[in-house]
Amino acid sequence: MSVNVFVTRRIPDAGLDLLRKHCGTVDVFPEDRVMTHAEIMREVPGRDGLLCLLTDTIDRRIIEAGDRLRIIANYAVGYNNIDVAAATAERIIVTNTPGVLTDATADLTWALILGICRRIVESDRFTRAGDFHGWAPMLLRGGDLAGRTIGIVGAGRIGSAVARRAAGFDMTILYTNRSLNKDLEQSLPARRVPLETLLREADVISLHVPLTDETKHLIGREELAGMKKTAYLINTSRGPVVDEAALVQALKDGDIAGAALDVFEEEPAIHPGLLELDNVVLTPHTGSATWGTRDSMAVMAAENLIAGLSSRRPPNIVNPDVLG
Ligand code: GLV
Ligand code: GLV
Repeated sequence: MSVNVFVTRRIPDAGLDLLRKHCGTVDVFPEDRVMTHAEIMREVPGRDGLLCLLTDTIDRRIIEAGDRLRIIANYAVGYNNIDVAAATAERIIVTNTPGVLTDATADLTWALILGICRRIVESDRFTRAGDFHGWAPMLLRGGDLAGRTIGIVGAGRIGSAVARRAAGFDMTILYTNRSLNKDLEQSLPARRVPLETLLREADVISLHVPLTDETKHLIGREELAGMKKTAYLINTSRGPVVDEAALVQALKDGDIAGAALDVFEEEPAIHPGLLELDNVVLTPHTGSATWGTRDSMAVMAAENLIAGLSSRRPPNIVNPDVLG
């Protein structure tokens, strides 16, 4: 196809090779950093397809600057970085990469659950500092998991995968979701409850909702106050789902036991309060960061883009209205 495609940052070759095989022109932003809004604005005119990242804010201005743009393929499952309504109004297809990152993200969620409950990062620092003078009955005690309750906020693909893993840890599973998740409840003893109940009863609370107007600050001062003092909060979804200032205060005041976060409200900036606390584990938005998953995401984003530009229905379209 003699189509012209722009990629906002280098992604694994598995995806770039596919694009190069099918598209006439494939330009990749040459620097290994996030493009500025102005830089994307300059690149978009004349392009038929755009492959972008969750770190790119694709707003109405960029979408309207895309005089030939037919598809925006996001290299992520979340697509809160794209003004989908504006794209739909311009009849531009938007796609994402669901499914392929479910297990990797659920695994990182569990790494964080175990990391915060069993104080892995703190223990590593302690051991390296030469503070280990022998086994001790009270040394670095952490939270129990077996027999305790996990609360999954948002039981979509990733939340369900986290729940399946929780069954292996012999935990009671509560979840919130817009609708009953029949598949989940058929395979696991999982119970859908109101958020308030989940917050009150869970020992580990893990967030798996997309970021929307309704989920921004879903977990704020009041919700944190409704949790057990021994509870741990895990977030591998999107930073703004949690009111970070309220979380810092709750951790300082001992309202909850700890938090493990892969995402941040003002990413990549991190609330300075979080950096000072020992009862916090922080990772740099690496939920999907495995070799295999990042390759699969690259192939999926490329396949979506190629399909859209070949006038075939892309497998992972998020605004199917544009085709109607
Ligand atoms: C990662 O955060 C993603 O949405 O893919
Ligand atoms: C995302 O893939 C989700 O449904 O959790």
